[in-house]
Amino acid sequence: MPDGGRITIETANKWIDEAGARQHDMPPGQYLSLCVSDTGTGMSADLLAKVFEPFFTTKPLGEGTGLGLSMVYGFARQSGGQVRIYSAVGEGTTVCLYLPRHYGEAGEDRRRQTACRGRTGRPGRDGADRRRRALGAHAGHRGP
Ligand SMILES: Nc1ncnc2c1ncn2[C@@H]1O[C@H](COP(=O)(O)OP(=O)(O)OP(=O)(O)O)[C@@H](O)[C@H]1O
Ligand SMILES: [Mg+2]
Repeated sequence: MPDGGRITIETANKWIDEAGARQHDMPPGQYLSLCVSDTGTGMSADLLAKVFEPFFTTKPLGEGTGLGLSMVYGFARQSGGQVRIYSAVGEGTTVCLYLPRHYGEAGEDRRRQTACRGRTGRPGRDGADRRRRALGAHAGHRGP
């Protein structure tokens, strides 16, 4: 938003049925959606087709890595979810992340994290490893 504007963050529980699942290329079921909308420049269809490509950026040299959205895409897919972008030039953009809902006990996750820490050291500490995993997920990525 080069001239300022408004950002809206929304969360919701969503049931994705068979038709929605086919449309979004994800399994049907219960998801948490996290949508971030802005009133910025918006994007053309041509631009939208490229935004998930690693290192694709329209920012000047040295200002953008082009990794922002490609990492969001990798994270969503590795988590069994999806990311969708809705945009109109001159009006703004909405990016929605769909993540599968967790039905287990909260403690289960903590136990799994502790076991993981015991085996491999502190998870998520190695930035290079995180980048490798995020980029690896893009080998067969598709646009929105
Ligand atoms: N909310 C948005 N509104 C308009 N264009 C966007 C938006 N988000 C991304 N884009 C376009 O998609 C391109 C790729 O975005 P991405 O987040 O992957 O990289 P970047 O923002 O250029 O770099 P970095 O994330 O490292 O700052 C951007 O350069 C921009 O052209
Ligand atoms: Mg970015």
